[in-house]
Amino acid sequence: MTDKRFEPAKKKKLYSQKRFEHLKPVEMLKNLNLKNGDIMIDVGAGNGFFSLPAAEIVGEKGKVYSVDVEIDMLLDLKHRAQKTGLTDRIEIVKSNVNSANLRERADFMLFAYLLHEVEAPEKFLRNYFKFLKKGSKVIFIEWDTKKREEGPPIAHRIESEALKLMLAKENLTKIKEKSIAYNSYLISAIKA
Ligand SMILES: C[S@@+](CC[C@H](N)C(=O)[O-])C[C@H]1O[C@@H](n2cnc3c(N)ncnc32)[C@H](O)[C@@H]1O
Repeated sequence: MTDKRFEPAKKKKLYSQKRFEHLKPVEMLKNLNLKNGDIMIDVGAGNGFFSLPAAEIVGEKGKVYSVDVEIDMLLDLKHRAQKTGLTDRIEIVKSNVNSANLRERADFMLFAYLLHEVEAPEKFLRNYFKFLKKGSKVIFIEWDTKKREEGPPIAHRIESEALKLMLAKENLTKIKEKSIAYNSYLISAIKA
């Protein structure tokens, strides 16, 4: 495990009241146009803060692939999916450090609070972008590099401008950035 990686022992923190109030995952995913029937790939899904609401939104005809390198996080996600009756719509995928074996391509791919933990982000993104359908949506949520109240060390964070350059290099289009609550920024892009 690298020193940047989220410690699975702290996984309860990802379900804090503050996080729900600030990020409003259901509302956020709907506003980002995640739809009924979509195939969603949640990379660095952790224990399902976004995967579980996504599974509600994509419905019975859709699917959520919850990808993570840490088995502990995925087991917690699986347990939560069982409690909410969503296991049929969620496929749990244990990844390697830079890639995963996925069976389908995505309409919607999410990287939430993950990329700053990855050692070789360009290689990592290239591997995952192979699983994007033409016209699909890609979302990144990351810690603001200037706000210090909460979150990982500033030195670990990714500048939004650097991330946008990586996306343009991989031929993603309509790259847009906005500031959101919880000391974070959100970048959206479309696979041409
Ligand atoms: C801070 S957590 C965020 C989890 C979730 N996206 C959320 O916002 O609640 C980051 C997650 O990324 C995972 N992760 C870190 N490096 C990864 C990698 N190379 N491939 C896949 N997952 C990774 C960690 O195990 C952890 O579960």
